Amino acid sequence: MGAMARWRTIIEPFRIHSVEPIRISSRDERHTHLHDAGYNLFNLHADDVMVDLLTDSGTGAMSRDQWAAIQRGDESYAGSPSWFRFLEAVQKLFPFKNVIPTHQGRAAEKILFSVIGGPGKVVPNNTHFDTTRANVEFTGAEAVDLTPPLPPADRRPFKGDMDAGALDRLIRERGAANVPVVFMTITNNSMGGQPVSLTNMRSVRAVCDRHGVPLFLDACRFAENAWFIRQREHGYERTPIPEIVLEMAALADGMTMSAKKDGLSNIGGWLAMDDDALAEKCRSMLILTEGFPTYGGLAGRDLEAIAQGLEEVVDEDYLRYRIKSTAYLGEALTEAGVPVVQPIGGHAVYIDARGLLPHIPPLEYPGQALACALYVEGGVRSCEIGTVMFGKKPDGTESAADFDLVRLAIPRRTYTQSHIDYVIEVATSVAEKAREVKGLRIVEQPAQLRHFTARFEPIA
Ligand code: F0G
Repeated sequence: MGAMARWRTIIEPFRIHSVEPIRISSRDERHTHLHDAGYNLFNLHADDVMVDLLTDSGTGAMSRDQWAAIQRGDESYAGSPSWFRFLEAVQKLFPFKNVIPTHQGRAAEKILFSVIGGPGKVVPNNTHFDTTRANVEFTGAEAVDLTPPLPPADRRPFKGDMDAGALDRLIRERGAANVPVVFMTITNNSMGGQPVSLTNMRSVRAVCDRHGVPLFLDACRFAENAWFIRQREHGYERTPIPEIVLEMAALADGMTMSAKKDGLSNIGGWLAMDDDALAEKCRSMLILTEGFPTYGGLAGRDLEAIAQGLEEVVDEDYLRYRIKSTAYLGEALTEAGVPVVQPIGGHAVYIDARGLLPHIPPLEYPGQALACALYVEGGVRSCEIGTVMFGKKPDGTESAADFDLVRLAIPRRTYTQSHIDYVIEVATSVAEKAREVKGLRIVEQPAQLRHFTARFEPIA
């Protein structure tokens, strides 16, 4: 099980080779920054953040070998050798016939759904992430989530799984012709970074086959999902990670990907599929919005960084460290009495803000309030995943989301254990005076994806 398995302390399997300064700020300064930002942490100047756990997307550290690969980047408009290296690295894990490079995951979503979406269509997913849902809805189609929302304390090993029975009923009700694709998000980000089992993927595949509907993966965190399968699913204890990835890919007809997560890169993504006719339509869209099919929205150097990142991300020592270090934060918070989604997810720890702040009703945004409190307390930036993000419906009405969570997302290979120890202290300190945290009201919001730009004020 690997040479580190016997130790309690899993060391970061890297040394630091280049550092970025963190500006230490005071509580008073942060109070002012938060006020100026309209109580929305997306509006902060990142220099005013001390530990940035807003997202694990594009915020990781690249390796020496990735920076070296960047030097090799070839910027030929068509047929660059960097494109071929990228293509080979992608197809080694996901052997889909057509690979279409994009500048990030949502560009792949935008292209795919503008081709196959539209009014009257319905797209099932275990749980859509916000941009995926928005891209489906933007075409007039309906986005349906089919992962039963289990209580945060429930410790089932594969809480990302889709309810395959509910999928079958949905396709029967709406008609297979109106379901252009079924999506599986691995890991299931909105449900707590929880994995999906191969057993569940097979059941979903069987339902798709019965109705003749293609299955796509939203594979942003595929390597973390594969690691969980190896740890938790019977029969995979010794299977090499790349083989597990290939098995997931073999169950699907295509995928969307954000290389900003398990591509270990700062930008990039792709759309892939076996269907040539669909690929041709998507490539036409790609040329309109992203670029020529051998670079998509990316520079040759970005393609190189991703190709190298895909090799590093399936390394077992990396994945053991990655998953253990997230669990380290989650377990420490649990011990300190802070309620978090169990079991601990792959890329993030999700605090149950509704559980911690029962005095704040969902429509006063307990998740947002907690995220603000963590920032003022210690300069830790996190992200609300709850009623601010999901509470506003396409018809303009508002209702409580299933959960009000605060996500502490861990950038890959970026922070050390002492940064995380500090985060534990800060969160524990906020939890001790939870009663003092006040709810918020929205004073300004856009029509869609409001969590990025809405402005709030505290309720007196
Ligand atoms: N799908 C999932 C499951 C995601 O988590 C994300 C991004 C995307 C698609 C879109 O990819 O950002 O490259 O356009 N999630 C980031 C996050 C932003 O913070 O969880 P993108």
